[in-house]
Amino acid sequence: MKHFINLKDIKTSDLKKILKDAKKRKFKRKNLSTLDVDKGAPLKGKILIQMFEKSSLRTRLSFYLAIRQLGGGTITLRSNELHLGKGSESIADTAKILSTYGDGFMLRTDSDEKIKEFVKYIKIPLINGLSPSSHPTQVLSDVFTVEEIKKKPISKLNICWIGDSNNVLNSLIAASVKFSFKLNVGCPKRYEPKKAILEWIKKNKKTINIYYDPKKAVKNADVIFSDKVISLNDKVNIKKKTKDFKKFYIDSKLLKLAPNSIFLHCLPRGNEVSEKVFLGEKSHVWQQALNRVHVQKSILMYCFDKLR
Ligand code: CP
Ligand code: NVA
Repeated sequence: MKHFINLKDIKTSDLKKILKDAKKRKFKRKNLSTLDVDKGAPLKGKILIQMFEKSSLRTRLSFYLAIRQLGGGTITLRSNELHLGKGSESIADTAKILSTYGDGFMLRTDSDEKIKEFVKYIKIPLINGLSPSSHPTQVLSDVFTVEEIKKKPISKLNICWIGDSNNVLNSLIAASVKFSFKLNVGCPKRYEPKKAILEWIKKNKKTINIYYDPKKAVKNADVIFSDKVISLNDKVNIKKKTKDFKKFYIDSKLLKLAPNSIFLHCLPRGNEVSEKVFLGEKSHVWQQALNRVHVQKSILMYCFDKLR
């Protein structure tokens, strides 16, 4: 049994195994319908309990399809309908019950501390489906999408992030260390990654390049990633933050500075990117979103110790 909480804590060899398995499984499903089960139904009889403390469309649906396609099932809990969410049951007791009723637990939470607390008591795999500090299932899937589209290992590509230093960027930084790719970050001053993250990069003998000018950040980029300026956990002055990011708006003019680039975005989108770019030919956001099903299947296989 293995948890999937932060990319930085998972062995690179395991992350690569997950991607390899996802590629094989995706290929083999070419002629199958959405709810057809993969050969051998490797997770037959297993139930994944999902719990969302924040909104979700993609993560919810992709985990539903992922476990179903592996032969298992899922139930989704709303935290505000649980005793835990109402503050009248402890994480310890909730975790013990989840462990006796279920086989896996996927949690989207507004608290990294809560994940740490769950890990202390849970006896089944715990998957982080987005926390304030990371979004590991999204980013591993994005690595898959990049390699699928560019037909090259990501280590040979220049990756660029234009946007806030949020959970998705933190996971992308972790991926840049694990998969050894070059990463340029374009963000306004005072919106750089946190000191602890920069120290972690240094400790791992890696560098990322931070630019306060988006034009410099996208130079030579093979992939340009972006995300909402205001994240789910953001308790900021929205007007001010939006204004601070004005220069980092992604439009066709900016993309022209990186002629070989593709555009990716985890969705949902805000006002950080033009409609023309988002729906344009360089954008692969729909393929990116759907790939989450394929990669999360292999993440589940990893968690259930079924990856060979
Ligand atoms: N990208 C992503 O995690 O989307 P949802 O918030 O809809 O799950
Ligand atoms: N950074 C965004 C990602 C949404 C999938 C957020 O946390 O809201």
